[in-house]
Amino acid sequence: MKTLLPDKIDALFINCHVATMADNALSIIDKGALAVTGTTISWVGKEKNLPENFKTRIPKIIDCSKGWILPGFVDCHTHLVWAGSRSSEFEMRLNGASYEEISKNGGGILSTVKATRNASTDDLFILASKRVEALLEQGITTLEIKSGYGLNLETELKILEVIRRLDENFPLHVDATFLGAHALPPEYQHNPDGYIDLVTQTMLPEVKAQGIATAVDVFCEHIGFTLPQTKKVFETAKNLGLNIKLHAEQLSNSNGAALASEFNALSCDHLEYLSLSGAKKMAQHTVAAVLLPGAFYFLKETQKPPVEIFRNLKIPMAVSTDLNPGSSPVHSMTLILNMACMLFDMTCEEALLGATINGAKALGLEQSKGSIETGKDADLVVWDIDTPEDLCYLAGLTPVDVVMIKGNIHHTT
Ligand code: NIG
Ligand code: FE
Repeated sequence: MKTLLPDKIDALFINCHVATMADNALSIIDKGALAVTGTTISWVGKEKNLPENFKTRIPKIIDCSKGWILPGFVDCHTHLVWAGSRSSEFEMRLNGASYEEISKNGGGILSTVKATRNASTDDLFILASKRVEALLEQGITTLEIKSGYGLNLETELKILEVIRRLDENFPLHVDATFLGAHALPPEYQHNPDGYIDLVTQTMLPEVKAQGIATAVDVFCEHIGFTLPQTKKVFETAKNLGLNIKLHAEQLSNSNGAALASEFNALSCDHLEYLSLSGAKKMAQHTVAAVLLPGAFYFLKETQKPPVEIFRNLKIPMAVSTDLNPGSSPVHSMTLILNMACMLFDMTCEEALLGATINGAKALGLEQSKGSIETGKDADLVVWDIDTPEDLCYLAGLTPVDVVMIKGNIHHTT
């Protein structure tokens, strides 16, 4: 941590406890205070150690009433730009149909693709805005959103354009990921390699030219794309200088994580069926594991991701909502924290690290986001809780008092 005292302070939080999430732990400061200068955190420590002149020359003092300050949540894996509804599929699954069966019969991702292709940019923006608002109110200050419900150039670009507008119109930071290889579109049902050619030769260069996404993702799965097809997408992405992520080993082991690791992916996501050798590759290439308990819960999966192996290999574990209409229509990070503990046997500390600093690592943003350290972005939430563990334990409650993003306050109760 830098120790230089700031010349100027714009806001000072007092009467708080702080869980900084620095050094891979909750890293608690009891009876703390935190200063913000411009868009960044300029001082954090015990209130009794506040330099004398701090309180007198500060425009804004925020008394936290003994509440807790944590870094804003980083939701590092969502698909929240979509049109239509899959509630009828939910009912079908409750009557015994599986996610794979629905997908093979033209439902699943493809039913969302149809509705999304038919929606205008403005309609999609309005629909997605409601979801972003819900996340923002719950303390999410950094968000990743994937395309992938277009599956043709025009609609993929439309979704990415909506993501750009969300970033421009909402205070939170939004990263866009191109997931053109999410499912096989109807026009290419008998020509998967032809679709991969379209993704690599037409879509990816255009996405890069428009500077409209920073990363590329693929659904590598028996109902998605094969390992060689995934590799082709990664080769193109790498040549274009885009970051790499992968939906890997969600429903079966396709050895996708090992491949993504060889391409130095930022993260591999889902990972329920990951093998030990796949995990070792991830560790070797410092790839983050993004765990998505909402999809596991919603699809009634039984195979858990190998959390103990991640611990042993010191692979950072992120947790995220995976907000999407098919496998995880979950709009709550605190509910996801509870699921990470209950379903994946993570500790509260691990779940909270997953929703903050490790989420930032999964996006390559750990230098500026995800923990409370001087010099980092002032993305903070003041919570009305007794302990940080309450965020995992009080399932479904979201006691947000203040949300600050880059030094600006966006939500107060
Ligand atoms: O993360 N696995 C692929 N993609 C999404 C599901 C998308 C959908 O069913 O609409 C996921 O689970
Ligand atoms: Fe996903």
